[in-house]
Order: sequence, then structure tokens, then C-alpha cells
Amino acid sequence: MSALSPRLAAIVDALPLRPGMRVLEIGGAPGAAAAAVAARIEGGHILVIDRSAKGVAQIERNAAEDIATGRLSVRHVAAEDFELLPSEEPFDLAFAVRVGALDGRHPEAGIAARRRIAAALTPAGRLLIDGGDPLQELELPR
Ligand SMILES: C[S@@+](CC[C@H](N)C(=O)[O-])C[C@H]1O[C@@H](n2cnc3c(N)ncnc32)[C@H](O)[C@@H]1O
Repeated sequence: MSALSPRLAAIVDALPLRPGMRVLEIGGAPGAAAAAVAARIEGGHILVIDRSAKGVAQIERNAAEDIATGRLSVRHVAAEDFELLPSEEPFDLAFAVRVGALDGRHPEAGIAARRRIAAALTPAGRLLIDGGDPLQELELPR
């Protein structure tokens, strides 16, 4: 289990979480925020994606218990390439913290990433990132 810093704790506290929801975290290594989210969405699920193989291995190690119980899963993929598996339900909420493709540092990647994320969300699904108070919502192409 990876410790949750005060910075990430404030982010998780601000997420509009509810039991049963499906959450997507982008760039979530080493898994600390995802584990805290998993504990707050009883009966729901969080998928964490990360483009770093090392990051994915960290999440698998740190969140082994949540993975074993089915509350959390991990996938090695960049947001720009992400798509739902054929049998996978869409997500109610997506969030990312300190991920350059979404916080404006890499605008080209950001366009592709927002398109992929929008396609993986329910019609009412939202994308929240850091850099607000403490979160801000990003517009999605629909
Ligand atoms: C600065 S770290 C932040 C980690 C964590 N969100 C936090 O705030 O502590 C950025 C993470 O996002 C991942 N990442 C960066 N760009 C990504 C992208 N386009 N798609 C998926 N993961 C990405 C990196 O591999 C890394 O694990």
C-alpha cells in the first residue's frame, strides 16, 4: 500500500465519488490515490491506466489486495491510445493528477487523450484534473 500524501488526499476528498460508480484514473502510479478511491466506491470499480510499465508494476504491487478483490484494475496504456475493451462498461468519472497530456503541457497529446477519454465515459461522465481548487473540470468532445 502506497501512502496518500496530503496533496492527493485533498484531491480524493474533492472527487464526486459515490458507491457503485466506475472511475478511471489516468497516470495513477504508484496507486495511492486509486486505493483511496477504491475504498470510497463500495461495489464500484476503479481502472488505473499508466503509460509507464514501471508505474504499472508499482500499482500492481501496491494495490494487490484491491486487485485481488476486483475493486481495482490496472492497464498499461497511454491516455491517447486508451479504449474500452469490448466487454467493458463505460466510466462515470475520470480524473488525472500531474499528467502533462491533460494539464496543458502537451496540447497535441491532450486533444487525442480527451477524445479517447470522452469515448470511454457515460454521457454524463466528467473529467477532473488537478490545478483548480483543488480540481478543475476539462471540457470533452462529445
Ligand atoms: C508526475 S506523475 C504523477 C503520478 C500521480 N498522479 C501523482 O500525482 O502522484 C505522472 C504519471 O502519469 C503517467 N503518464 C504521463 N503521461 C501519461 C499519458 N499520456 N497516459 C497515461 N499515463 C501517463 C506517468 O507515467 C506517471 O506515472
